[in-house]
Amino acid sequence: MAKPNGSIDAIELLTQQHREVKEMFDRFENMTDRAKVSKKKLADEICNALIMHTTIEEEIYYPATREASEETEDMVDEAVVEHASAKDLIAQIMEMDPGDDLYDAKVKVLGELVEHHVKEEEEEMFPKTRELKLDLEALGQEMKARQQEIEAAQ
Ligand SMILES: [Fe+2]
Ligand SMILES: [Fe+2]
Repeated sequence: MAKPNGSIDAIELLTQQHREVKEMFDRFENMTDRAKVSKKKLADEICNALIMHTTIEEEIYYPATREASEETEDMVDEAVVEHASAKDLIAQIMEMDPGDDLYDAKVKVLGELVEHHVKEEEEEMFPKTRELKLDLEALGQEMKARQQEIEAAQ
């Protein structure tokens, strides 16, 4: 939930981005094969959103979570490995066009991978983070600033 002064805590920010990317994957799924230009545009938007999201998690949220407790260390390690698989697919998709073999399959598999990853973050990692003594408002602010920087460069 956004605060009156417009600030947003780290977990709210990440959860909101999860919803946004899920909505984009759903829209992609419903596009016809003929809509090649729109498909390419949307797939690239998804890829850029995921690059931004994984970057702010890896640079800011994961290190803070990892340092806060030993219990979260394994969770973060697993998440980083999942990000690496996602990034590999993202790089392939961005190089490809909707007419290419396996294009739709790669976007679909990326969507499934992200869905699984998001579920673990939201059901395991985020609740755990809430128990830790982290300044989620400050982390949220830092992440939001980094987000704007990344988006400006994309
Ligand atoms: Fe993640
Ligand atoms: Fe995430």
